[in-house]
Amino acid sequence: MISTNNPIGIFDSGIGGLTLAKAIHEKFPKESIIYFGDTAHLPYGDKSEAAIQAYSIKITDLLLQMGCKVIVIACNSASSASYELLKEYVGNKAFVINVIDPMVQFVATQLPDKKIGLIGTKRTVQSAIYQKKITEIKKDGVIHALATPLLAPMIEEGFYNSQISHEIIWNYLSDNTLNSIDVLILACTHYPLIKNEISEFYQNKVTVLDSTQIIVHELERYLKTNHLLSNSLAPELSFLVSDYTESFEASTQIFFNKKVNLKWHPLWN
Ligand code: DGL
Repeated sequence: MISTNNPIGIFDSGIGGLTLAKAIHEKFPKESIIYFGDTAHLPYGDKSEAAIQAYSIKITDLLLQMGCKVIVIACNSASSASYELLKEYVGNKAFVINVIDPMVQFVATQLPDKKIGLIGTKRTVQSAIYQKKITEIKKDGVIHALATPLLAPMIEEGFYNSQISHEIIWNYLSDNTLNSIDVLILACTHYPLIKNEISEFYQNKVTVLDSTQIIVHELERYLKTNHLLSNSLAPELSFLVSDYTESFEASTQIFFNKKVNLKWHPLWN
């Protein structure tokens, strides 16, 4: 049975999804959170759909065993490969939120006449999932998508607001695919960290959208509608990873604004 003080489960290929975990924690400080970063298999952006599906099912199984009332797929690559499968797998045991549908809904309804660009991992872009989903809502909707595979590892190594990130970002965004766009979707949970640099490239003339607040809003809507907001006075935060290194732990600072303790979980052993 789902009950109010059960935790919210969040997973990502690694620690980039902590950007979303942080926003969820700030908005809902009474919620317990179990974050799972599949650091043993990162990056997901270069993996096959079948591999990501297998990882996602196993992680979801763990989060269900730990009693999660909601499972947030804090990764575009995993959302594109596994959302439908996970929804079916989880059934009515928990609610599954992906990072793609709420964003597509937002641009299709709130920005219907704008030229939309998108950057993300190879997996997300090759899946053409944003294009498919926007067409379901708006028949003539078009998303101009460009794979930018260097950006996630670049950020994870701490290169943002730097000369190196400037060069790489400028190089990618100069691609013809993104010519004269009005809006750019950041389709990767690492990218909020370079949002300012991207806006700078466009001299603030392009609306740069990351899904963080859109997802927090979607989660709030679900928790309120289903009377599942926690009233716990002692919420717990736990951060699990499938491969532990000190460098992963140090990088949590980048994404969560403070260093958190990562705990190795033997999911693959
Ligand atoms: N955070 C992942 C995403 O949103 C990208 C990192 C990866 O490739 O694993 O797609």
